[in-house]
Amino acid sequence: MKIKRIIKWGAVSIFFALITCLFIAYWTSTNDCGRSIPPGSERMKAIRYCAYGSPDVLKVEQVEKPVPNDNEVLVRVRAASLNSLEAVIIRDLWITRLMSGLRKPKVTRFGRDFAGVVEAVGKSVSEFKAGNEVFGVKWGAVAEYVCVFEQRAIVSKPANITFEQAGAAGVAGLTALQGLRKGNIHAGQKVVINGASGGVGTFALQIAKAFDTEVTAVCSTRNVEMARSLGADHVIDYTNEDFTRGDQRYDVLFDNVGNRSFSERRRILKPHGICVMAGIGSMGAIDDPLNRIAGTFTASLRSRFADQKFERYTTAFNKTDLTFLRDLMEEGKVTPVVEKTYPVSETAEAVRYLQQGHVRGKLVIKIAEESTHSHETTEENR
Ligand SMILES: NC(=O)c1ccc[n+]([C@@H]2O[C@H](COP(=O)([O-])OP(=O)(O)OC[C@H]3O[C@@H](n4cnc5c(N)ncnc54)[C@H](OP(=O)(O)O)[C@@H]3O)[C@@H](O)[C@H]2O)c1
Repeated sequence: MKIKRIIKWGAVSIFFALITCLFIAYWTSTNDCGRSIPPGSERMKAIRYCAYGSPDVLKVEQVEKPVPNDNEVLVRVRAASLNSLEAVIIRDLWITRLMSGLRKPKVTRFGRDFAGVVEAVGKSVSEFKAGNEVFGVKWGAVAEYVCVFEQRAIVSKPANITFEQAGAAGVAGLTALQGLRKGNIHAGQKVVINGASGGVGTFALQIAKAFDTEVTAVCSTRNVEMARSLGADHVIDYTNEDFTRGDQRYDVLFDNVGNRSFSERRRILKPHGICVMAGIGSMGAIDDPLNRIAGTFTASLRSRFADQKFERYTTAFNKTDLTFLRDLMEEGKVTPVVEKTYPVSETAEAVRYLQQGHVRGKLVIKIAEESTHSHETTEENR
């Protein structure tokens, strides 16, 4: 009797402790939106969002211009691009609140891919100097400037591609490269890419060709010709044909969409084939993210008891892989596909389109070269 009472009151106490913690976490979750810029600091324009919601929460605002530390590089951004995470991270969904701040988004700056010109470097930086053209990955990329650690994801821009193309490459290119490696890709294999026409897919298709594999691209009708032009050996239009019902068996299934069951995907893999689950489709577009997330976890768990493996991964934004990607672009083996370029003031419009889940390649935000910064706004600040 006594033990029962202890268990009962223990459970009740834990429940109330959890509720209290959640309540405190919710009300203490805040961000830097109310903070003013210290007097005398230089300013710049950046995209910022202070609350969750529709793309209209994205505003062009004045923020403090970053100052590089000894081991940092200050880059004047010329182009930044959007990825599927950016389409979902602003949405008012319980999953984004859990990831990014219960009440308000903790990180208010927007975008991760950038390309631009080095404006200044810290005194320990040896790889870059002012005037170098670079690209890479850094949170808050949709801004006039970003500061990046020299040793992180920043490399020189190949001369044969534009700032817009370089600004489209970081996240999607690394996701494609690391995913294909997770699939243990090598020459002569048969690779199928589900969602071959999006940001990650267009890189995956070209990188898989650069690895000398036979590539089948799965995309919608409007993208069939583009997939062919990027080098696909076979293209399946998913509006006419189910790629999981064909006779072909693949060594690697690179899945950007995650809209097929475990057994459907297993069916088209060779006996020791690998399914790499890059994502669960553009969460901005799909209504059942929980099901798809659960699907990736159960698929990788179930595959532990099978010869065919289902692999999940999180992209690592590192200099080594970014250099490999840069070299592929320099050799002309990979060319970023940019469907549309927007001015910063139309970032919300770009995100609205991204949330529909059918972008061809990438959407790029162009940062105007002549936009206002430092002196003019510092004057304003005085
Ligand atoms: N693992 C990581 O760390 C990591 C990092 C970045 C991204 N990701 C994930 O990678 C995935 C792809 O990202 P993304 O940036 O490429 O997304 P995206 O640009 O929105 O591309 C989605 C593509 O999926 C295609 N698609 C939509 N419905 C389809 C269907 N029923 N069958 C086949 N294709 C379909 C669309 O092509 P059509 O227009 O032709 O339909 C579109 O081009 C996302 O799930 C994202 O979450 C993962």
